[in-house]
Amino acid sequence: MDNSLSLLAECGDEVVSGIPCVDHARVTSCAIQTFGSKYPAIKRAYEKFGSELRALPMAERTALAQLGQERWSGTALATRQRRELVAVLNTCDSSQIDEIDTLIDLGAGDGRVIEAICSDTALGSRLNSIILVDRDKASLDEATRRLQRYREAGLSIDTRCLDIRDHCVWKGLKAGRTLVLASASLHELDRADKVTVLSRIARNASYLVLVELAADHDAPPTQDMEFRHKAAAFYDALIADAIASLPASQHCSVAGAFLLGELEAMLTHTYAARQNYHLAAEKWRSAILACGFRLIRERLAEILPGGAPTYFLLAQTSPR
Ligand SMILES: C[S@@+](CC[C@H](N)C(=O)[O-])C[C@H]1O[C@@H](n2cnc3c(N)ncnc32)[C@H](O)[C@@H]1O
Repeated sequence: MDNSLSLLAECGDEVVSGIPCVDHARVTSCAIQTFGSKYPAIKRAYEKFGSELRALPMAERTALAQLGQERWSGTALATRQRRELVAVLNTCDSSQIDEIDTLIDLGAGDGRVIEAICSDTALGSRLNSIILVDRDKASLDEATRRLQRYREAGLSIDTRCLDIRDHCVWKGLKAGRTLVLASASLHELDRADKVTVLSRIARNASYLVLVELAADHDAPPTQDMEFRHKAAAFYDALIADAIASLPASQHCSVAGAFLLGELEAMLTHTYAARQNYHLAAEKWRSAILACGFRLIRERLAEILPGGAPTYFLLAQTSPR
């Protein structure tokens, strides 16, 4: 094993878990140098933004990563995912989801997904009420601005600046008429939190629409070399897509602070601190069915050339 990989291998969960004696920057720098030849987009982003980002105080770096996460919705990948989601929803028999009048968007971001649903789907035209949930106030403000024309046309739009794990998300809702949308947000929950949140969705709504990049990042420990290479290949494709499709002014926040930051966390943090737990399609399906849903429709689409496919799932709460 070469030096950098062996350095990574030495960093077991106990030593890396946010304990200051471990030099994360050195570990990451070694990993990136090793990965560089295999993963050119990671190398490029690291060389361009690595030192600039490391020089920032942690709070500023976190804020830039959150901004990058919001701006990610402008990438080619996210745009094609929205188009595909619209197509999936429009192929559903309207009798399957026709009693829905409320949509809750968990991890709504800047509201582009809801905007696409409202403007391009039959479901969107039937909604009376939308509830946008996100922990990031700036994203919710942006989403509210984006959806203003629908509010003016009579759609009720409520925002809840909450963690999606907070049970207050569900206050005052009529379960029978509610559909939950979770697009690119539930992968941020670890195994236990996924079960908690999916079970709450099953109790409080009748339908779930899930959109997630399908990748098997949940189970393996961070010391596992195969896991690290899977994570690197996954983020290399995302970073390449972000750099190719976003204006240069957004590369540092999206490709650097957000995407490279997520990869760094996956390479150096414990399972609990990793914050990204993408699942393969069949694992999403089983987790969702185990929490009390029945599958209506699913689609695995190769949207990002060379990258992870996107998994779309529509499920209904099983009658109890
Ligand atoms: C990658 S963005 C996706 C945004 C949008 N749904 C889309 O598909 O374009 C993930 C969003 O989920 C939000 N998010 C992630 N984890 C969250 C949590 N635990 N609680 C609340 N919001 C969360 C982030 O703030 C971000 O706005």
